[in-house]
Amino acid sequence: MNIRCARPEDLMNMQHCNLLCLPENYQMKYYFYHGLTWPQLSYVAEDDKGNIVGYVLAKMEEPEPGEESTHGHITSLAVKRSYRRLGLAQKLMNQASQAMVECFHAQYVSLHVRKSNRAALNLYTNSLGFKILEIEPKYYADGEDAYSMRRDLSELSKQIHPERDTSSAALSNSKGKDHSQHDGHCC
Ligand SMILES: CC(C)(COP(=O)(O)OP(=O)(O)OC[C@H]1O[C@@H](n2cnc3c(N)ncnc32)[C@H](O)[C@@H]1OP(=O)(O)O)[C@@H](O)C(=O)NCCC(=O)NCCS
Repeated sequence: MNIRCARPEDLMNMQHCNLLCLPENYQMKYYFYHGLTWPQLSYVAEDDKGNIVGYVLAKMEEPEPGEESTHGHITSLAVKRSYRRLGLAQKLMNQASQAMVECFHAQYVSLHVRKSNRAALNLYTNSLGFKILEIEPKYYADGEDAYSMRRDLSELSKQIHPERDTSSAALSNSKGKDHSQHDGHCC
C-alpha cells in the first residue's frame, strides 16, 4: 500500500471511491478545482497494482472575518471497505496536514463530520487530535447535524518551520543554525 500526492489522472478514481463510500458527492469539476488550485494537498492510497483504494481531498480556506490565521480544510476522506483499519485514513490525513503547513503555513485544519459517524469521529479525535468546535444543526442534506472540528497544527509547524517559532526556547535552540537547508517539500 502506497500513499502519494494525487495527480490529475487520479481525480476520476477518487470520485469513484467517494461514490462508493459516502452520500456527500461532488461534480467532477469540484475535484478539478481542488486538484488544480491546491495540487499539493490531496493524497491517494493505492494498492500494489496502482488501484486507488482511498483518498483525501483537501483545500485552503480564506480566513474567517476578523481572523488572521491561515487554515486548511478537509473536503472529503474515504477508504474502500476492504482496506479499512489499516491506518490508511490516518496517513492520508497526516500527509494532507503536513502539506498544508509546509506549503501554506496553515495554523489549523478544519472539517465537518456527521454526528452519527462513529468511525470517523474516533479517527479524528483519538488518532489525529481534532477537537469539536461546535455543532452545525441540519448541516447535511438529509437533516443530520454536523460536528465542526479543528486540529491545531502549531506543533507540526514548529517541527517543519523552526525558523518561524518565536518561543524563547526555540530561539535559543536555533541560535547559529542555518535553516536555509530546510528540506520541507511541496510535492
Ligand atoms: C472513516 C474512514 C475514512 C476511516 O478509514 P480507515 O483507513 O479505516 O481508518 P484508520 O485505519 O486510519 O483508523 C485509524 C483509527 O480510527 C479509528 N477508527 C477507524 N475506523 C473505525 C471504526 N470502524 N470504528 C471505530 N473506530 C474506528 C480507530 O481509532 C483507528 O485506530 P485503530 O485501528 O488502531 O483502532 C473509513 O471508515 C471510511 O472511509 N468511512 C466511510 C467514509 C467516511 O465516513 N469518511 C469520513 C467522512 S467525514
